[in-house]
Amino acid sequence: MRRRGSFVHFLLLMGIVTSNNIVHGQQIEAQNATRTANGRNDSHVSALYVLGDSSVDCGQNTLFYPLLHSRFSLFPCNGSDATLLPQLLAEEIGLKSIQPFYGQNGSLEQVLGGLNFGSTQATIMNQGSYSHQSLTQQLRQVSESMQLLQLQLNKDTALQFTKSSIFFLSFGKEDYIDLFLNSSSSPMFNHSSQNFATILANQMANAVRYLYNANARKIICLGIMPLGCTPRIVWESNVTANGSGCVEHVNEWVLEYNRLLDEHVAKLNTELHDAKIVFCDVYNGMMEIINKPGQYGFEDAKRACCGLGLNGAMVGCMSMDMACNQSSTHIWWDLLNPTQKVNSILANATWSGQPIPGLCHPFTILELVNMKV
Ligand SMILES: *[C@@H]1O[C@H](CO)[C@@H](O)[C@H](O)[C@H]1NC(C)=O
Ligand SMILES: *[C@@H]1O[C@H](CO)[C@@H](O)[C@H](O)[C@H]1NC(C)=O
Ligand SMILES: *[C@@H]1O[C@H](CO)[C@@H](O)[C@H](O)[C@H]1NC(C)=O
Ligand SMILES: *[C@@H]1O[C@H](CO)[C@@H](O)[C@H](O)[C@H]1NC(C)=O
Ligand SMILES: *[C@@H]1O[C@H](CO)[C@@H](O)[C@H](O)[C@H]1NC(C)=O
Ligand SMILES: *[C@@H]1O[C@H](CO)[C@@H](O)[C@H](O)[C@H]1NC(C)=O
Ligand SMILES: *[C@@H]1O[C@H](CO)[C@@H](O)[C@H](O)[C@H]1NC(C)=O
Ligand SMILES: *[C@@H]1O[C@H](CO)[C@@H](O)[C@H](O)[C@H]1NC(C)=O
Ligand SMILES: *[C@@H]1O[C@H](CO)[C@@H](O)[C@H](O)[C@H]1NC(C)=O
Repeated sequence: MRRRGSFVHFLLLMGIVTSNNIVHGQQIEAQNATRTANGRNDSHVSALYVLGDSSVDCGQNTLFYPLLHSRFSLFPCNGSDATLLPQLLAEEIGLKSIQPFYGQNGSLEQVLGGLNFGSTQATIMNQGSYSHQSLTQQLRQVSESMQLLQLQLNKDTALQFTKSSIFFLSFGKEDYIDLFLNSSSSPMFNHSSQNFATILANQMANAVRYLYNANARKIICLGIMPLGCTPRIVWESNVTANGSGCVEHVNEWVLEYNRLLDEHVAKLNTELHDAKIVFCDVYNGMMEIINKPGQYGFEDAKRACCGLGLNGAMVGCMSMDMACNQSSTHIWWDLLNPTQKVNSILANATWSGQPIPGLCHPFTILELVNMKV
């Protein structure tokens, strides 16, 4: 876990240094490109490239992150990227930990080791001053990285490497958070839920086509989790904590996006016939856990482990000292993010269909990993 000292935090908060300086300042572990390229097990995966928002990045890859994200949380996921789904899946695949894009030096071996282009505040839409590291920018960075491989390796080797890598996309969460928590300023506020979801899902389908044109053949698209059940959204909506305790209209908006993305993925598998594209429905996975917390070992399905105020939903996780003693008994880590335990269950379920079946289709991630392209 790359926990930063409090003095550094202070500097970050004051804007005296940026996350980027620190990431660059860290001694980056040397990677054995050959071993990484071959994978540790017999899987047919060369590397994992991750694109997305706070569901894939804990702030390691976000310039000016504390300034941008101060309204939510300084530790959107316990300050450790190893708590997130793609990092947990990388472990399952047998790949080494994935470097953040801004933490690498552009060398061939680092690109070969897989990269995380994701950034906590990333949106699908380009919106004003928060648009840095949006979907479009991340796609451009992927394309440049794959071009680097072509320049430095022989062309066929580069092509085969890219084809047998997995590209993991998880977006949309921040678009909806912007919409629900700062709706008056969102350019999307006047769209119906259907329109908004259509625009976002179309952009994601175009992103898949773009990656395909950059020679990607194994692609995972994630749906959005049930944002209407997060402590922050529940608090904002003043829902009385009974029944499932979730804000239904927020969940319906998110579900619309998930449904359309799922449809797009099915069509894209036909359109791009030699590509293997998987849709993983983390929404249903989390609802299963939220509806039966005890069955999955949770004691608290409402209160954030790290936060202040009613259900820990008023002030985000500004310091690890605020965290509860046993985060694994909580579904929610902070205002808007699940705990590592939840992500671990989801990683296992998307990997193999256990303990929650049917989240990914047409294949599980394990099946995707073992496919030849
Ligand atoms: C980039 O980082 C790798 C791994 O730390 C190191 O081996 C390599 O020398 C670096 N390359 C440059 C150009 O700094
Ligand atoms: C890199 O991996 C190859 C193949 O597994 C191995 O032969 C070599 O010794 C490794 N090099 C280093 C520096 O770890
Ligand atoms: C909401 O949007 C406005 C206008 O873009 C911005 O000035 C304000 O800081 C935002 N509020 C929050 C809580 O992010
Ligand atoms: C939404 O529509 C209303 C009425 O048409 C308009 O006054 C307002 O500026 C619009 N808001 C945004 C964010 O586009
Ligand atoms: C939440 O609802 C309760 C009961 O309906 C009401 O008394 C309270 O003022 C509401 N709080 C907010 C912040 O809207
Ligand atoms: C939920 O709260 C409402 C209003 O307080 C009450 O009428 C209803 O019976 C409650 N439902 C459950 C399942 O507890
Ligand atoms: C957490 O553990 C510490 C030390 O074991 C104890 O003093 C404290 O009361 C516990 N806090 C909570 C919220 O349970
Ligand atoms: C944060 O995550 C790390 C890695 O999973 C774990 O070891 C640590 O206990 C977690 N901290 C809290 C407060 O949950
Ligand atoms: C996920 O699977 C791994 C490997 O089988 C296991 O060690 C871990 O405990 C599982 N996670 C959860 C939350 O059940």
